[in-house]
Amino acid sequence: MTAPVITIDGPSGSGKGTVARLIALELGFHLLDSGAIYRVLGLAATDARIQLDDSDALASLSDSLNLSFPYNAQCTQIILNGASVGDRLRTQVAADAASRVAIHPRVRDALMNLQRRQARDPGLVGDGRDLGTIVFPDADLKIFLDANVEVRAERRYLELIQSGQTVERSAILRDLEIRDVRDRTREVAPLIPANNAYVIDSSDKTAAQVVANIRDLWRARGLA
Ligand code: C5P
Repeated sequence: MTAPVITIDGPSGSGKGTVARLIALELGFHLLDSGAIYRVLGLAATDARIQLDDSDALASLSDSLNLSFPYNAQCTQIILNGASVGDRLRTQVAADAASRVAIHPRVRDALMNLQRRQARDPGLVGDGRDLGTIVFPDADLKIFLDANVEVRAERRYLELIQSGQTVERSAILRDLEIRDVRDRTREVAPLIPANNAYVIDSSDKTAAQVVANIRDLWRARGLA
């Protein structure tokens, strides 16, 4: 029997990372932060001076990534080859590099097994862009979490300020809009809700309210 899987897809700033962590904690499930994989790859490629459009070199770099995602109620850690990756992953540079490497079909294929391997007992909660559509098409529960772009930009702004970075609101909004277009219009695995996903708008909701909503869906399916 395969382990149960909950997927939470959506654009940046929709709150999916926080919500995924809280649900994983409540259910005692493993957690997959798939955006972090693309961020790690983008940064590793930049460090190795690999061009972000060199899909062959990026695909072979993808094969060498050994990642895990231990978490607690406050945060998710990203462990690469045994060491914590740290705050660099949450910068705008990492986000931009991630969305550039993510457009290559060969890269996405190379990262597929790494993501699917995380679905093990007692279960998995994963967040990303294509988890419900491509990576886990048979997931037990699929959520598409959205919010309007101004709310998402404000959340991202506060997150970056709180982590000690110096950023401008207008630049965050612009970066988010550029990344949204790139993620939604790319040919492979674009950001769209799976046919059988529940769409939740978090613009006027707290993380706790979204979690309660998903908990109800989970229980209604007899999966608790
Ligand atoms: O979720 P996060 O903001 O960390 O994702 C960074 C970038 O990684 C996204 O803008 C997207 O281009 C890419 N990504 C993806 N597929 C996923 C998760 C993230 O293409 N499943």
